Amino acid sequence: MIKVITYGTFDLFHEGHYRLLKRAKALGDYLIVGVTTEAYDIARGKLNVIDDLMVRIENVRSTGFADEIIIEETSGQKFSDIKKYNIDIFTVGSDWTGGFDYLKDYCKVVYLERTKNISSTMLRETNKPIQRIGIIGTGRIADRFVPEARLVSGVSTQGAYNPNTESAVRFAAKWEIEAYKGLEDFFSAIDVVYIASPHETHYEYIKASLAHGKHVLCEKPMALKKAQAEEVFREAKERGLILLEEIKTAYCPGFNKLLGIACSGSIGSIRNVEACFTKLEKPGTREMTNQVYGGSFTELGSYVMLPVLKIFGTAYQDLRFDSIHGENGLDLFTKVSFVYPAGIATATCGLGVKSDGRLLIAGTKGYIIAEAPWWKTTYFEVHYEEANRVDRYSEIFLGDGLRYEISNFLYMINKSNKDNFKLTRGESVAMAGIMEKFLDQEGRSGQ
Ligand code: CTP
Repeated sequence: MIKVITYGTFDLFHEGHYRLLKRAKALGDYLIVGVTTEAYDIARGKLNVIDDLMVRIENVRSTGFADEIIIEETSGQKFSDIKKYNIDIFTVGSDWTGGFDYLKDYCKVVYLERTKNISSTMLRETNKPIQRIGIIGTGRIADRFVPEARLVSGVSTQGAYNPNTESAVRFAAKWEIEAYKGLEDFFSAIDVVYIASPHETHYEYIKASLAHGKHVLCEKPMALKKAQAEEVFREAKERGLILLEEIKTAYCPGFNKLLGIACSGSIGSIRNVEACFTKLEKPGTREMTNQVYGGSFTELGSYVMLPVLKIFGTAYQDLRFDSIHGENGLDLFTKVSFVYPAGIATATCGLGVKSDGRLLIAGTKGYIIAEAPWWKTTYFEVHYEEANRVDRYSEIFLGDGLRYEISNFLYMINKSNKDNFKLTRGESVAMAGIMEKFLDQEGRSGQ
């Protein structure tokens, strides 16, 4: 019996896939098809897949050509599959010609001619129009956003708006996009909005964007008052629009893997979470001088609250803030202590005090530790009572990591999926509520 194997994502199943599978089956007697997992596609930089794994598997199955379907979850798996399944022929389309010659030592490698003028990429672009992004605010974060957005297919950065026209023009020239002098012109030229303006302006810009029928991705902290967060989410829901808070950690693959393991029971019941993030800031910056909205907690609090709320939820029983203040009264270092029915947590951040910057999650059977920069999680360890037993996990984190949230945002738009489990509306609202309590306690309630 001649055994053949082939692999693919098989997103938006099309004629090219069908013809490939048919010819692959004809090469032998038994065909195994490997379908990539979402995590593997993300790891290899393919961020735009629309169909979920089970849909892609079902589409392959329904052709009737596959005798067996397996999932492909890591690079290097092809080699071991060839051994494991005793494969005679490995085959893929001719777009890969030469790419798998290294397998020739183990089996025959056949490149089948690719079907012309059809691909998942093409279908994604024709079925789903490119979303033109407009950026509000043209500072440092926006500078990081543009190159990341260029790596996500299905979006294009159209232009930028800043009430300071000079800044918008400079930014637009740098990235070769349009600069808009007025908000009306801006909204009429774009499909979705990315808000990267100062914290206190988010609420008004979100409202304006939603009123113009635009989906919104907004930088953290999305809102500084609970009622404002609730209002804009309600508004988005009523209009059938997506509103998503940008906290890059929430969307990155490593952090999601860490949460999965933390909540799997392997460290028992979780009783304590400690999250810390410090980043020393120069004295003259906006973060260190804005008397109402500056300081450590408004700047970094979203990152450190995230693991606490993801693990223990939003129904804390007690909350306490302790801060170290600078001469101008802004918090240089803030520790938030949470008490929950089942555990306790601290979220610590600093712009003027340096600390360890680690994430610790302690349970009744063991603990997880992720060192700084855990907010861009690439590695973490699970420790147990037996000191020599350590499970080690690593995960990819590409570039500045904004590509993960942009592709998540696009996925939600294309799927018309208004619920985002990676950062829920409830979690964003809770964060806004905690920010509000903090600013109240500091005596700087603002607008
Ligand atoms: N394939 C083919 N002819 C096409 C498209 C794909 O023969 N027109 C083959 C590929 O060479 C591969 C298999 O189908 O062996 C699965 O390819 P996949 O990457 O899932 O499909 P693409 O349409 O190429 O996807 P994308 O545009 O996302 O790269």
